[in-house]
Amino acid sequence: MAEIVVAANWKMNKTVSESDNLIKEILEKIPPVNSVTCVVFPPFLSIPSAAGLIDGSSVNLGAQNVHSAKNGAFTGEVSALMLQDYCSYVLLGHSERRLLFGETDAFVNEKLAGAIECGLRPIVCVGEQSSDRESGLTENVIRNQIKNSFKDIRAINNIIVAYEPVWAIGTGTAASPDDAEDVNKLIREELASIFGSEQVSKTPILYGGSVTEDNIADFLSKPNVNGALIGGASLNSEGFTEILRIACNLT
Ligand code: PGA
Repeated sequence: MAEIVVAANWKMNKTVSESDNLIKEILEKIPPVNSVTCVVFPPFLSIPSAAGLIDGSSVNLGAQNVHSAKNGAFTGEVSALMLQDYCSYVLLGHSERRLLFGETDAFVNEKLAGAIECGLRPIVCVGEQSSDRESGLTENVIRNQIKNSFKDIRAINNIIVAYEPVWAIGTGTAASPDDAEDVNKLIREELASIFGSEQVSKTPILYGGSVTEDNIADFLSKPNVNGALIGGASLNSEGFTEILRIACNLT
């Protein structure tokens, strides 16, 4: 059985003081989460302060992006070597990185190798655009993203994958739980063809895209949906801790 992971992607929201306040509120309201792994992804600048606040709690900390190199002439970038003092998770290949900043599968693959080397636990995001879905290309796109992102990666243990259909992100129109299950199953199959089904049966595969407290239970009722990556609904402590509470009650 795969671990259940509930993760909050704050994107480019919250100043350092706003982020501190949100973390404090989450820590006040968070239910006992023994059965669920909770991770928050604040903006880079908030990470050092957040690391101090979450120390000793059941909240884990991650970065929304990382460069593949450890250091060098990469103006404006942050490396896994720099992050590893503060956080233990990293988001890779989010569709906003792919579409707005031109990240390719090949770059995601390099970042994945770099993150693993520095001991960060990656959440690798994949997802089709609405035009892909309308043209019946979803399976193709997802299989290619997985194949290319995981090229030459030796082991899947400790890696998390998130299926995030681009058309469902920030739109209020989530995928149906059945569609999420179908694609997550396909992701598990593709990963199993690389790493073997034994290892991959324990890989958490999340769903992301307009997840709220109203639909989380439906997603988690699906066998191949092992948690959620949450944007908008994670920006307030009530919504996010309610999602955590529902996830804990179901596991
Ligand atoms: P959303 O974002 O929950 O606001 O749709 C999800 C994500 O981008 O990870």
